Amino acid sequence: MKQDMIVVLDLGSEENTVIAREIRSLGVYSEIHPHDITAAQINSLPNVKGIILNGGPNRIVSGERIDVLPEIRNCGIPILDSDHNGAEKWPSSAELRRKKISEFIFDKCKAEPNWNMENFISDQIEKIRAQVGSGKVLLALSGGVDSSVVAALLIKAIGEQLTCVHVNHGLLRQGEPEQVVEVFRNRMNANLIYVDASERFLTKLENISDPEKKRKIIGAEFIRVFEEEARKLDGIKFLGQGTIYPDIIESGTKTVKTVKSHHNVGGLPDDLDFELVEPLSMLFKDEVRACGSALGLPDNMVYRQPFPGPGLGVRCLGAITKDRLEAVRHSDAILREEFSLAGLEGKVWQYFTIVPDIKSVGVRDGKRADEWPVIIRAVNTIDAMTATVADIPFDLIQKITMRITNEVKGVNRVLYDFTPKPTGTIEWE
Ligand code: XMP
Repeated sequence: MKQDMIVVLDLGSEENTVIAREIRSLGVYSEIHPHDITAAQINSLPNVKGIILNGGPNRIVSGERIDVLPEIRNCGIPILDSDHNGAEKWPSSAELRRKKISEFIFDKCKAEPNWNMENFISDQIEKIRAQVGSGKVLLALSGGVDSSVVAALLIKAIGEQLTCVHVNHGLLRQGEPEQVVEVFRNRMNANLIYVDASERFLTKLENISDPEKKRKIIGAEFIRVFEEEARKLDGIKFLGQGTIYPDIIESGTKTVKTVKSHHNVGGLPDDLDFELVEPLSMLFKDEVRACGSALGLPDNMVYRQPFPGPGLGVRCLGAITKDRLEAVRHSDAILREEFSLAGLEGKVWQYFTIVPDIKSVGVRDGKRADEWPVIIRAVNTIDAMTATVADIPFDLIQKITMRITNEVKGVNRVLYDFTPKPTGTIEWE
């Protein structure tokens, strides 16, 4: 392993992630571990140069003040003991805190600033090869950032031993399935199974208007299609997963409750008993993107905006029909193209269109035309828990309106959603 490491032990701080990220931003790799880790476990981690005991407001668990095992303080690795109540608390100013961390990791621990993507990738390749040996790995490749980066990394590590399955559920954005095939099969030479299951999904979704039912059907059908493909393949022992560090942190720690549970193989039957390969499980989202770029993935794949698993299915409100779904897909493509031309790509956090199941009267070619409206949603947020409405130039909205009403079949109006979250959620379903 090439990277030095600083371990952050979670003693009830709400800022474990902030501290770990700060250390990484100084060029030293850092991982968060639970407070009751043993000295033997610390010693089994590669190149640990220092330990930060990160106390905080959640330090009292079930009425008791938790602490590390006494052996940790005697294991010979430099320790920085910090607690918001103790003498050694973090300075309140972010600049000063960085100085304190920097002095500890470089002056006291003598860590090398060798955390970079090149070293990360070569370490992971070594780890993947050691885990997998000559075994075969299966990966559900959605085309999203995380699964795409895992695919690129696995291709580099084990090439032919990897099989990717791309399930097109018919609810992807314009050009997405084609891009997955182009990048992974044509450019990277991956073993890619492309399954066009659009008709199958649309049939299952017919007349289903309840959003949660729609989500459940899409999720369950996805697992079923993937399972069918997995059963056709022989001798697969491993399953690649695009799990990233926030998924693990948000699953809860010993001192902090779960924010959301982390879904692993979610729903695959027990007899498909795969061992997981999760090479991104210690990366934050921006690091995943940097890894993707370093592996040669195109920018529009690596920096793409978040896209929900049920895809356009939750933007074609109510019961999905083919023609209204096409109106969502086409209007979304126009919106993305215009945002890109206006230089807004990457500047607005998420933007998309919605088509509700209502019609209003309009005029087309001098005649009455009852058609759908398209709603534009463009928001900025840090964590998707709250969001503000993006300030889009009026002339751009006018241009997009003209294009959508002229080019998208069955649409005669365009509306802009001015609602922040709360009260509106980002998606409409
Ligand atoms: P909301 O609508 O809850 O969205 O404000 C917050 C973020 O989550 C995304 N989202 C989903 N992602 N499956 C997903 O994978 C879903 O069912 C889903 N629903 C919402 C949404 O696009 C936004 O980024």
